[in-house]
Amino acid sequence: MNLRVIFNGLALLLLFATAAALISLQPSLLWTTERNHWWLAAGLMTAYAVISWWWVRRSRTPAINHTGMSAQTVLVVHASQTGTATALAQQTVQTLRSSGVAAELCPIGELHSDTLQNAARSLWIVSTTGEGDAPDEALAFLQTLEQPLQFAGNHTYALLALGDRSYTQFCAFGQRVAQWLDASGARAARPWIAVDNLDPEALEQWQPVLRQFGAHEAGSMKTTRAPFVYGQLMQRELLNPGSLGGEAHRIRLGTELALPSWQAGDIVQVAVLDEQGALPAPDAAASQWREYSIASIEQDGAIELLVRLMHDSAGRPGAMSGLLCRHWPIGARMALRIRSNPSFHLPQDNASPLILIGNGTGIAGLRSLLRERIRRGGGPMWLLFGERQRDHDAFFSEELQAYADAGTLQHLDVTFSRDGDGEYVWQRLQSRAAQLQSWIEQGATLMVCGSRASMATDVDRILRDLLGSTTVDDLARTGRYRRDVY
Ligand SMILES: Cc1cc2nc3c(=O)[nH]c(=O)nc-3n(C[C@H](O)[C@H](O)[C@H](O)COP(=O)(O)OP(=O)(O)OC[C@H]3O[C@@H](n4cnc5c(N)ncnc54)[C@H](O)[C@@H]3O)c2cc1C
Ligand SMILES: Cc1cc2nc3c(=O)[nH]c(=O)nc-3n(C[C@H](O)[C@H](O)[C@H](O)COP(=O)(O)O)c2cc1C
Repeated sequence: MNLRVIFNGLALLLLFATAAALISLQPSLLWTTERNHWWLAAGLMTAYAVISWWWVRRSRTPAINHTGMSAQTVLVVHASQTGTATALAQQTVQTLRSSGVAAELCPIGELHSDTLQNAARSLWIVSTTGEGDAPDEALAFLQTLEQPLQFAGNHTYALLALGDRSYTQFCAFGQRVAQWLDASGARAARPWIAVDNLDPEALEQWQPVLRQFGAHEAGSMKTTRAPFVYGQLMQRELLNPGSLGGEAHRIRLGTELALPSWQAGDIVQVAVLDEQGALPAPDAAASQWREYSIASIEQDGAIELLVRLMHDSAGRPGAMSGLLCRHWPIGARMALRIRSNPSFHLPQDNASPLILIGNGTGIAGLRSLLRERIRRGGGPMWLLFGERQRDHDAFFSEELQAYADAGTLQHLDVTFSRDGDGEYVWQRLQSRAAQLQSWIEQGATLMVCGSRASMATDVDRILRDLLGSTTVDDLARTGRYRRDVY
């Protein structure tokens, strides 16, 4: 039973108790024999029931407005983690509309199975994230995927799956959606297209699809990737000497020319220069660079990272973390570029509460969000952060405590799993269930950063236990549950 049910039950009991107390205070018989009073009471009760029903329905109805959509409208569905699939879906809609074809852009999380069942045609642009996982905006759709649909009539679809072959589960989510559409009896206009690292040749295959769906002129789909720039290792500091965990280094990077722009929550991609000292091409394979959450904001004047030294099974340092944490001398040159991470930017509404949850190097992404919110003078914040040992792994502890003392951080919960009273961050969240519920009711946004396997999965499970899966899916769909997990 989730907390919402318990609280609603308690509120109901309280109302009954109050009613009972008021009845006992009545000087005369409560029950009226006047017919008009009965009609008035019945009318009020009916109005109350209708308004409640409308309110519940309204809060469950997907935000997207499909009214006025004919069965011939092409639904253009996108599932994206970092925005590429969304951008391609927008171009798809524009291309169709400029040929007079009715097309509707539809984020997958807002796609209702009724809408899809009644549509005759759909185009899907679907990315894979994590390790073969669905993007966060598709969380609410996973339940629909569990069973085939029954289309009202013939349904034709085509699907473009974005992915990267350097991951073991290449385009796994796109493939899953295509298989589900096939199992639902939809007809594939052509087999689903797998796009490796935005390969232009694979993207070209979308053009005949657009023509098949009625576009007269289908130009190439444009994806823009920022060029790499020359970066420099400015500073390195080991933050956790003696820790049971891997070394974690605070790294400061600069650039030879002006620093690139970024927003709190963005990622930096770091690559090695080639033997001639040249930068990688913008479309270099993803295996050539590594991603790191940026821990600083532009006003800090440098790109700060928190990098854990990784090792392979033979104990050799990881290719990039080895360079950043050990081998590169201060002043070493490398290539870097910013990857915008729109699904992990601060919410537009600066005043609503913010709950930041993370572990390990995940504090990097959370720190940039914290610093930006403080700079903007935003609403209340609560940070839950977990590491191993208080004596070694309390990253940025002085800074965080200073925010808490100044009241800019309303709640600071730091847990250490390997100390005597060891606790994981999800356990702390569980023991703060009432506070969580209350913040969510006040419109809080949840932002989670750090390890997918050893933190984010448990946090997600506890959130679903405490708030209910429907609420968590709704939070993800409406941008109030944002994650940067790896
Ligand atoms: C969005 C995003 C944000 C990230 N932010 C950070 C960050 O802020 N700080 C940070 O330290 N890292 C972060 N990472 C991880 C980072 O990109 C690299 O994967 C990591 O530094 C290892 O790279 P490497 O070249 O040193 O190791 P590799 O040479 O690629 O691999 C070395 C060994 O490490 C293992 N390994 C590689 N990556 C991981 C991993 N993520 N978890 C567990 N084992 C792994 C491999 O299996 C291998 O055995 C982030 C990753 C992503 C996708
Ligand atoms: C953290 C992370 C995990 C990823 N995991 C996978 C994966 O498991 N399989 C895959 O094929 N591609 C994977 N990719 C590659 C993305 O699918 C690819 O970069 C895609 O173009 C991103 O599109 P988006 O911007 O719409 O999210 C991953 C990318 C990132 C950054």
